[in-house]
Amino acid sequence: MHHNIVVLGDGAVGKTALTRQFCLNNFPEAYDPTIIDTYVKKVLIDGDECELEVFDTAGQEEFIGMRDQYFREGDAFLLVYSVTSRASFQYIKEFRAQLLRIREASSVPIVIVANKFDLYNEREVSTQEGAELARVLKCEFVETSAKTRYNVESAFYIAVRALRKR
Ligand code: GTP
Repeated sequence: MHHNIVVLGDGAVGKTALTRQFCLNNFPEAYDPTIIDTYVKKVLIDGDECELEVFDTAGQEEFIGMRDQYFREGDAFLLVYSVTSRASFQYIKEFRAQLLRIREASSVPIVIVANKFDLYNEREVSTQEGAELARVLKCEFVETSAKTRYNVESAFYIAVRALRKR
């Protein structure tokens, strides 16, 4: 099976870093704003092989023009914020609302991903707040660090399990 996984979120939350850790096993230290990149990775999840096409999208406003197209083509979505940025957390609701509007659906497989878990001293959003938002929005939730690779695979696996349930 082929699945499109779309990674969305505010600028600099770590969308590229998560995608590259998952697909290429490396971590980009430098910040280079993305326009759009896609990666393909074959994985075995719960005994079923699948090919994931991961769309690493633009967070910065000036590049968001293409977003509607990815909203339509995605089979599952990672909605990423950084635990070090309350502003990025506040965007999550808006992204989900836009997604549902464009899909004309009441629910779409979404994993809310709280990234930069390793930056304990800079944390602005607690685990509880993230989990509560996910509960209210009926999304999956996971905390990750693209830097240490903590839960990076889990985030993508949870997305695949969510779309398989449909
Ligand atoms: P846009 O392309 O503008 O949307 O940004 P992005 O969301 O793709 O962010 P990117 O992956 O480029 O990461 C932004 C910065 O945060 C880079 O300097 C990364 O090295 C850093 N970063 C990303 N994830 C983590 C993480 O889990 N921990 C730490 N400490 N830094 C991270």
